Amino acid sequence: MAIRLGDNAPNFTAETTMGPIDFHQWKGKDWAILFSHPKDFTPVCTTELGRVSALKPEFDRRGTKIIGLSVDPVDSHRKWEGDIKDVTGQAVNFPMIADPDRKVADLYDMIHPNASDTMTVRSVFVIGPDNKVKLMLTYPASTGRNFLELVRVLDSLQLTAGYSVATPADWQYGDDVIVVPSVSDEDARQKFPKGFVAKKPYLRVTPQPNI
Ligand code: BEZ
Repeated sequence: MAIRLGDNAPNFTAETTMGPIDFHQWKGKDWAILFSHPKDFTPVCTTELGRVSALKPEFDRRGTKIIGLSVDPVDSHRKWEGDIKDVTGQAVNFPMIADPDRKVADLYDMIHPNASDTMTVRSVFVIGPDNKVKLMLTYPASTGRNFLELVRVLDSLQLTAGYSVATPADWQYGDDVIVVPSVSDEDARQKFPKGFVAKKPYLRVTPQPNI
């Protein structure tokens, strides 16, 4: 069955480039990003894994573990890591799941047969400390992902998990945020001491509360 937002992220055991894992044990109480790429030794994927490695300090700062996956075996992942370093200058610094029997890919519905019945699509699952799925993205093989967008959505998810706010279109860290409609004006005055501006009764903006 397809995974939906708010569902428990299913647990699994798997071989990875950094040894065998039980996913929930590996993740612990942290945030996590589980993402698939279609195939080892392919051009877009090579650029993606170098980029994720370069951004790992940003994910670390946000208490977020990263783990990749494709349906290739672990020795293939390990050989490919050399190419990724050659091309992008980045050593791969996070585990990659080897899923040749598609156990995890099927569990997370990462194979979309009308796109390809042999390769995973570019799926992303952001999973919260409570192991619930907070965000999903699906890209085709031909379009590399914007991993800075993942850093941005993590900032939004972590902010909105801690405060009664939502983030507007194209929000960037430091921009004003939206007071959620379920909070009354009276409560908003208490919760947001910097004040808020009501552009409409249902659209109230306030400075980002955690900075
Ligand atoms: C790529 O990563 O470049 C790629 C992978 C599978 C199909 C097409 C492109």
